[in-house]
Amino acid sequence: MNLDCPASCPFVAGRGDALDFPLGQLHRVAPVGSAGTPPDGTEVDETKRNLLKLLAVAGVVGAAGGGLAGGALQYAQPPVVGIKSFPSVQLLDVDGAPLTATKVNAEYNATTPELHLFYYPLTNEPNFFLNLAPAASGGVGATNVPGGVGPTGSIVAYSAICQHLGCPAPAISYYPPGTCSQTFDGKYVKGLGFYIHCSCHGSTYDVTDSAANLTGPAIYPLPQVTLLWKDPSKGGDDSIWAIGESTSVPVNGHFNTLQGGYGVGSTSQLASESAIILCKFPSS
Ligand code: FES
Repeated sequence: MNLDCPASCPFVAGRGDALDFPLGQLHRVAPVGSAGTPPDGTEVDETKRNLLKLLAVAGVVGAAGGGLAGGALQYAQPPVVGIKSFPSVQLLDVDGAPLTATKVNAEYNATTPELHLFYYPLTNEPNFFLNLAPAASGGVGATNVPGGVGPTGSIVAYSAICQHLGCPAPAISYYPPGTCSQTFDGKYVKGLGFYIHCSCHGSTYDVTDSAANLTGPAIYPLPQVTLLWKDPSKGGDDSIWAIGESTSVPVNGHFNTLQGGYGVGSTSQLASESAIILCKFPSS
């Protein structure tokens, strides 16, 4: 660096062309009188020069960054998907054939913990399909329960996503009568033997009473799917349909049961799954 260099000094260049000259230092970029230099020999303030370059670069980077951020936000907040109303969806058996109440009564035993699940109304909303009083149950069963369909009003369906923090089946499972030797205190007698229990934190729901809460920490019942049975005695074909939901509480994790996923279409097939059964319950 040579600050007292006379005007006749040869060309003094910085190490780089743009941003590496010390702040506040005057930098002669070419001998006086050479092409492109001021005729009076004034020197160039590299600080201002570099500042202008910085502003220009910042402007370009800012514009590009703004575009990228805008694009990223577009994907970080995908548009809400869903359906406008509850569809009528025919339920199919695990083998793909139309589900009938006759088959349900013959094959789906209320006394075994095997789960039968189907999605409705969205493809990310699983539900329990339960028959609480099959003909072969040997006297064990609950008939004419709220929302129950079929010859004895024993076929019901509830959301298979816990209303506490959203544990899905099989973490939340159906416990048929006699599954555990556990006995509840008087507060829970109503649901003894027929309940859905969540192994995550212990919430329990009464399947004979619209999945009302028996134990917390969940405070809402499981949403109940409205089923329709086409009664053969009235000209129906014995088929079973999901046509809506009878509770105003949305499926856990959904702001609205109809939003947050894609519709299942015109049919929904049952799938079998092994339950997770824990016979040690919270004391309250
Ligand atoms: S998620 Fe089911 S009890 Fe907490």
